[in-house]
Amino acid sequence: MPSSIPSLNPPHRLLLGPGPTPVAQRVYEAMGKPIVGHLDPFFFQINENIRPWLRTVYGTENPFTMVLSGTGSAGMEAAVSNFVHADTKVVVFIAGYFADRIAEMSRRQGATVVRVEKPWGETFSDAEIREAILREKPTMVGYVTAETSTGVWQNGDALCQAAHEVGALVIADCVTSLGTMPINVDKTGIDIAFSCSQKGLSCPPGLSPITVSERAMERLRARKESNRTWYLDFKLLDEYFGGQKRYHHTAPISMFYALHEGLALIMEEGIEERFARHKANHLELIAGLEGLGLKMLVNNPHRLWTLHTPIIPEGKDDMTVRKSLLDNYGIDFAGGFGPLAGKIWRIGLMGEGSKKENIALLLEGFKKALSA
Ligand SMILES: Cc1ncc(COP(=O)(O)O)c(C=O)c1O
Repeated sequence: MPSSIPSLNPPHRLLLGPGPTPVAQRVYEAMGKPIVGHLDPFFFQINENIRPWLRTVYGTENPFTMVLSGTGSAGMEAAVSNFVHADTKVVVFIAGYFADRIAEMSRRQGATVVRVEKPWGETFSDAEIREAILREKPTMVGYVTAETSTGVWQNGDALCQAAHEVGALVIADCVTSLGTMPINVDKTGIDIAFSCSQKGLSCPPGLSPITVSERAMERLRARKESNRTWYLDFKLLDEYFGGQKRYHHTAPISMFYALHEGLALIMEEGIEERFARHKANHLELIAGLEGLGLKMLVNNPHRLWTLHTPIIPEGKDDMTVRKSLLDNYGIDFAGGFGPLAGKIWRIGLMGEGSKKENIALLLEGFKKALSA
């Protein structure tokens, strides 16, 4: 081999940011197993194993629960493109970066988009949500359960109730909540939920698990014109992954193995136990950060268990602190962006990353960096 060809030697980072998150050894090993064809009975069996596990993490009985080949944004684009078109009026509740993306995708589908906005980091009260939905009478409503740009949890109960009262369907972004916090799709009344593989499920990025209610499927079946986004057309995808097993695209087999193993790990742990672990570790990290004198951007009870957003103290520099943790501890986490650039840090404890020893190391690193 010519000496100029470099070998692949990625650094070992402890990924404690907004994602991707640490990947379990068993998941890496699953990805190294022999691939089969994308129409092989074994591949379809992998899918059938995955579906009920996804129903468990989403909290749903929806028959239409499946995995898209693409990242979380593909899930978002699928949710929007299948249900939002020129005749649609969409209300999107926006208090952060990712809700804005739902609005932008809806705009590109030619829909009438009503942006209900608050400053980044705030939540919408039940009354505010109800008022906006009853006033606008949309056909679709979009919101983000776990806003990764701010660390806020947005409750969806009142939103779904009001939406259904006016005959609208609800799209919920569950990218930073799936597999770590209870989403309760059915109980809440969410119609279309999407997520990703690289956060709470602790797999590499590349897949987007979705689930769609029967109510939404009825609306989809009645839709006359085709989804303009061919790759993410649920009707076509159902012909591939559903009964007919008809070729649609060449699914990334090794990623499906990874997701299979990642979800198997969750089933072994138990979903309730997993939620409890994330909550306990979240509380421990908050206590530790507050013990170091840091204040949090988000107040209780709106904090995510997955993503923590301490405010950068006066006189401390975002990048200097992050570099100190990366250089001294190999810990990779993120700063804020948009209106929160230079104002907050974003620290993730998700899936394989949500561990006591990681919290201890992180707090040690922060103590050192803040006192420097
Ligand atoms: C809340 C939220 N929605 C959507 C996305 C987009 O997901 P992806 O980057 O996997 O396409 C992200 C990514 O971080 C996110 O945090």
